[in-house]
Amino acid sequence: MLVSIPDLLTQEETARARQALEQAEWIDGRVTAGVQSARAKNNLQLPEEHPTARELGDLILAALQRNALFMAAALPLKVFPPLFNRYDGGRSFGAHIDNAIRQVTGTPHRVRTDLSATLFFTAPEDYDGGELIIEDTYGVHTAKLPAGHLVLYPSSSLHHVKPVTRGSRICSFFWIQSMVRDDGQRTLLFDLDVAIQRIVRDAPDHPAGVQLTGVYHNLLRRWAEV
Ligand code: NI
Repeated sequence: MLVSIPDLLTQEETARARQALEQAEWIDGRVTAGVQSARAKNNLQLPEEHPTARELGDLILAALQRNALFMAAALPLKVFPPLFNRYDGGRSFGAHIDNAIRQVTGTPHRVRTDLSATLFFTAPEDYDGGELIIEDTYGVHTAKLPAGHLVLYPSSSLHHVKPVTRGSRICSFFWIQSMVRDDGQRTLLFDLDVAIQRIVRDAPDHPAGVQLTGVYHNLLRRWAEV
C-alpha cells in the first residue's frame, strides 16, 4: 500500500528546513549504500552526524508522532533517524530494493525496514525529473509530492528515482519498523481504521462503531509485535 501524507511539516517548517539544507555541505550518497545499491546510487547525502541532519531529524520525528494518518498507516514500532539526500545535475538512483535491516550508526539498535518514507523539501515545479517510481503488486506508482508532504511505501517494493535534469530535489528518507510486519495485514487494519473513523463521525451513536473498534483491536492484538 502506498500512502501520501499531506503537510507532515507546515509551510514555514518546510521553508526553514529547505534553507538550512541548501546551505549545508553534501557528500557522496554511496557512503550509506550497500555493495549492490552503490552501483545504482548517484546522489548527494548529508552526513548523518551533521547538526542540520540531527536538528531536522528531530523535527520530523516529532511531526510523525503528532500525525494521526502516519500512525494509522504505519503502526510504527521504531523509526530510523531521518537521512537527507539531494539530486541535481542529472543524478538518479537506479532500481533497487532497500536493505531489510538497518543498524542505527554508532548504536546497537537495528531497524527492520517494513516501510520506506520520502519527505519532500523542494516543490515539484522547482525541478524536472526526480520522480520516485515504485513498483508493487498493483503496478507502477509515481510520487513527486509538494514540499512538506511524505510518501510511505512498502520497503519490499522495487523503486528508483529518475534523473533530475533541472534544479535540485531535496528530500529526507528513512525507514519504519512496523508493529505489523506484513503489508497485507497492515493495509487491512488501515482500511478498517478509516471505515471506523467514518462511522464514528457520521453515526456516532451506532453500536457498530464500538463493535468494529473491538474487531480492529482484536486483529491488532493477533498480528502486532511490540
Ligand atoms: Ni531506496
